[in-house]
Amino acid sequence: MASENVTYASYLRIPELLALQQEPRAHDELLFVVLHQSHELWFKLALHELDEATSLIEQDRFPEAETRLRRIVTILRQLVAQWDVLGTMTPAGYLEFRHVLEGGSGFQSVQFRELEFSSGLKDASYLSSPWLSAEEQAALRRRLDGVTLADAFSAALVRAGVTDVLDVLRAGPGLLSMLAETLLDYDEAVGHWRHRHVLAVERQIGLKPGTGGSSGAAYLRSTLTRRFFPDLWEARTRLS
Ligand code: HEM
Repeated sequence: MASENVTYASYLRIPELLALQQEPRAHDELLFVVLHQSHELWFKLALHELDEATSLIEQDRFPEAETRLRRIVTILRQLVAQWDVLGTMTPAGYLEFRHVLEGGSGFQSVQFRELEFSSGLKDASYLSSPWLSAEEQAALRRRLDGVTLADAFSAALVRAGVTDVLDVLRAGPGLLSMLAETLLDYDEAVGHWRHRHVLAVERQIGLKPGTGGSSGAAYLRSTLTRRFFPDLWEARTRLS
């Protein structure tokens, strides 16, 4: 029987959670805050699964790794769908509170960068960003120094005697080729998220610069070609 002391609110720390959203200064600010905070929660879960998936691949436990990766893909697909909620905010509604962000921007999301770094896209230049706290910088440093999902997959190929990933594509269904397809699902889901983000941005602020100091949509468009597993994409061109 469940302990009588534990309640829904106490176990999930609901009062603390709901205290994190301050009184909105404009009607749509609550939507904006909830959307970002929920993204960060899902990013936290995705990182948790990513670490496990990477470790499982390092142990050649591919089907288990795939179950973790499939969860990440599902998380990302529902984050893509969340952009529809933002679409119910008008640009005029956003302008009512955009100024309160000052220099704050999703560009500074440390968990997003952690996901990028640990998936295979490392960029040491983020570590010198002035907005990072000591803890955030340490977290990024750990990710920068750590094994990525892409590294783990490449090492698994080497252990299996595969010298060219093209052979995995040619081999047809098998543990490694199924894993490779799930990695592509992941890369594609992140790509969809990036596309929906830039569309949402253009819908809200057009071609205005971002609060984080970038050119805005133009910068975000330049990120659309980023890939965690470029070799897996490139092999498609060589497949004949
Ligand atoms: C009104 C809604 C939004 C607008 C207008 C917006 C705008 C922007 C802009 C202009 C940038 C480029 C950096 C800058 O100069 O600020 C950016 C980056 C970013 N935003 Fe948003 N954003 C919005 C919602 C969100 C949401 C809900 C998330 C969820 C966490 C998010 C996450 C990010 C991330 C992770 C980046 C960095 C992307 C990269 O460097 O590849 N944004 N955003």
